[in-house]
Amino acid sequence: MARILITSALPYINGVKHLGNLVGSQLPADLCARYMRARGHEVMFVCATDEHGTPAELAAAGAGKPVAEYCDEMHEVQAGLARGFCLSFDHFGRSSSPENHALTQHLAVKLWENGLIEIRTERQMYSQADGRFLPDRYVEGICPECGYERARGDQCENCTRQLEPTELIAPRSAISGATDLELRETKHLYLLQSKLRERLRAWIDSKTDWPVLTTSIARKWLDDGEGLQDRGITRDLSWGIPAQFPGAPWEGMEGKVFYVWFDAPIEYIAATAEWAHAGGHGDESWRRWWRTDEGAQDVRYIQFMGKDNVPFHTLSFPATLMGSGEPWKLVDYIKSFNYLNYDGGQFSTSQGRGVFMDQALSILPADYWRWWLLSHVPETSDSEFTWENFQASVNKDLADVLGNFVSRVTKFCRARFGEAVPGGGEWGATEEALFQELSCRLASYEGHMDAMEIRKAAQELRALWAAGNEYLQSAAPWAAYKEDPARAAAIIRLALNLIPFYAVLSAPFIPNAAEALQEAMKAEGTPWPEDLRTALSALPPDHEFSVPGVLFAKISDESREEWQQAFAGRR
Ligand code: 2FM
Ligand code: ZN
Repeated sequence: MARILITSALPYINGVKHLGNLVGSQLPADLCARYMRARGHEVMFVCATDEHGTPAELAAAGAGKPVAEYCDEMHEVQAGLARGFCLSFDHFGRSSSPENHALTQHLAVKLWENGLIEIRTERQMYSQADGRFLPDRYVEGICPECGYERARGDQCENCTRQLEPTELIAPRSAISGATDLELRETKHLYLLQSKLRERLRAWIDSKTDWPVLTTSIARKWLDDGEGLQDRGITRDLSWGIPAQFPGAPWEGMEGKVFYVWFDAPIEYIAATAEWAHAGGHGDESWRRWWRTDEGAQDVRYIQFMGKDNVPFHTLSFPATLMGSGEPWKLVDYIKSFNYLNYDGGQFSTSQGRGVFMDQALSILPADYWRWWLLSHVPETSDSEFTWENFQASVNKDLADVLGNFVSRVTKFCRARFGEAVPGGGEWGATEEALFQELSCRLASYEGHMDAMEIRKAAQELRALWAAGNEYLQSAAPWAAYKEDPARAAAIIRLALNLIPFYAVLSAPFIPNAAEALQEAMKAEGTPWPEDLRTALSALPPDHEFSVPGVLFAKISDESREEWQQAFAGRR
């Protein structure tokens, strides 16, 4: 038994996430957590809302609420949606927690003591009307590149050019629209990550088993010199983790908070501490996951995230942990994803284009989405959600292959033998052939799941379901029943045993359906099939079951068309 620590990138607090966000981190992380638990490993799976930074402040202002109140509410909304999608976090925390405040400030002090933080003076936009400095997104103006009128201080949405607020033409405050902006001197803490460049490079070079998507992004940032520049880690905001606090070794940071990307990954650790405190466990119970001097040397740590998050996780966060000089656990494997597009374009939060997590659950059960999303996860390139493809995948894979198998077997048994596993009859060559196929496919499924090759794993799982249908087709119990009822009983006994077997294998993808199958078969607690023949004899003759209700309803063409219209974008 191994110990596996799993984190998903933290969703921003500012609103409900769309399916593209979900499939890029939280959902595959959940798949991994469920699989690892099923294999008997000890798992710690944490996530949290990412609550700081200008997006949180601006969203709260847009909703007309104090930021703290907005975050309280949105955290509950996101936690509820996570439950709706069966995301099996051990803890879903908040980056605004006291644990994260303490740990972020602690790590900053350590970095300072190691000469990796210094104070720098810079000139920054100040708004007299607002009485405050305006960090990145708080300044808007005309893009110097393309002339777009609503370019933001960090980036022009129109031409994607990265900007400094000072480059904008006719800059104005995004808060009040005030144009009386001036440049004023202000001080900030800088993380001297360039000093860690060679250590980081050696560490990345040692990760020879990482996906190319992950290492190529990391190397690009290391080599360009762009990513590993020293970085301001404080901002002039009131919402966040204060950069001036009792015991801070520096002065003059009043009114400033840490930059959201400095504190957000630290929340992975803090969320585990939140888990411990919420459950009344002592500090050693979270530290054994994170401190290599207190047990975490035996932990395998896997992170899940979209490709835009990779630089922060391959360079900045490791720089924070390494630079602290303390024995914190570094990530062992980063699984990163490309983007999921939506029906010929992109998901767009501002235009309401695409399906968002709350909408998805309001029209169909979580398993339908989980299956489509995971079996089409943008693993090696971007992928695209289309309603046609979604409909086909639900109707064929789930309804025709898995659902239909279960329904045929259980109904046939009920009609001929009653609702209990029939005894009698022998297994022969057809069954041997099935065992052969299942055992090959099971090994391959496990291999793909161990390697987190999610699409290949989904294909193999589907093939395992299909093998059941093919077996029924060739063994033809309905025909056998007329001549030789005992033979039909033997076939149905095996087919019934395939149901809990499928349920266990499928649970990481479709946990609700898996549970319904286990309940119907009265086979809750079925273990992972370590030995195939034992697993396929687990339900003995006379074991009672009930025919489950419809597992997966097919999606009609009318519904598909209606949803296609409804989610095309509101503006
Ligand atoms: O890109 C995002 O959605 C960020 N909120 C991810 C943060 S991951 C981590 F570092 F906390
Ligand atoms: Zn532009």
